[in-house]
Amino acid sequence: MVSIRKVLAMGALAALLALPAAAREISPEAQVASMKRGVNIIGYDPLWKDPAKARFQLDRHFKTIKAGGFDTVRVNLHAFAHMDAEGRLDPQWLATLDKVVKEALAARLTVILDEHDFNACQDDLAACKPKLTSFWRQIAQRYKAAPDQVVFELLNEPNRAMDPIWNDWIPDLLAAIRPTNPTRNVIVGPTHWNSLHRLSELKLPKADRHLIVTFHYYDPFPFTHQGASWASPVPPVGVSWGAADERARIDKDFDTVVAWAKAEGRPVLLGEFGAYDKGPLDSRIAYTKAVARSAERHGFAWAYWQFDSDFVVYDIKADAWNAPIHDALLPQKP
Ligand code: BGC
Repeated sequence: MVSIRKVLAMGALAALLALPAAAREISPEAQVASMKRGVNIIGYDPLWKDPAKARFQLDRHFKTIKAGGFDTVRVNLHAFAHMDAEGRLDPQWLATLDKVVKEALAARLTVILDEHDFNACQDDLAACKPKLTSFWRQIAQRYKAAPDQVVFELLNEPNRAMDPIWNDWIPDLLAAIRPTNPTRNVIVGPTHWNSLHRLSELKLPKADRHLIVTFHYYDPFPFTHQGASWASPVPPVGVSWGAADERARIDKDFDTVVAWAKAEGRPVLLGEFGAYDKGPLDSRIAYTKAVARSAERHGFAWAYWQFDSDFVVYDIKADAWNAPIHDALLPQKP
């Protein structure tokens, strides 16, 4: 038996030696309960290449996000562009990431580190696997003593060529993380761009009880992606949303997620949702509200796509919230 006095003495020793406190263990259920409402950030910000050109201001915008009623940021990382031939991450890029994590935590936000090289991975599986593994080995080592508000997400939206192999990669990627982070919660989602319709095919290692399951929701796609140049073919604009059957569809879809999650004993993050800026604003407001409220009723944490760039909830130029979307997401401000 270790006495309380001895535990206190050990803590004092660690403090004296300035050792980082080991991460506390938090269940994935408790983590999801505290992640609540989130927003995706800085995936497409010049910050990563040149901090002087940043749109997102690390010293201010995390506080803005917290004061705006959010609890979590999902940081979209395109790390492959910042690796050398051996897969080592660029020290300057890592220093930027350290600042991101530090400032987000200081603003009392949960920070999801989401590896977002999903296109590169589907384009070239053989090149992706060592990069993704090396990314997680380095990130896991670097943040092993970080508080439990730092959460890892293995890969955004595995799709197409990745679909048949994704289940096999999950334990391999976890093996790069678990030696240094045995109890940190890790987020993982199904194939077909994290489609809820593919949850039943997702195979998670049964013994790992620190996993959170994620899915993304952009249904109906012709509405949420109208005018989106990256969709092929580009869905035509002018599509509205809000009929009773369309609203009911969200609850029905989310019911199937809950059924799966209960059977598997895994809590859920809706990691992306939103309707592209080119749709009719009244429909976008109705949709954003409906998805966020349904996610809450179903017990999911959620993260809106996204803060800046497109689907914007924050107007960086005006340095102000995009009020209609912000209000739809968070009708009750803190
Ligand atoms: C992609 C973005 C895209 C969004 C909605 C994200 O996962 O990274 O490029 O805009 O999904 O389609």
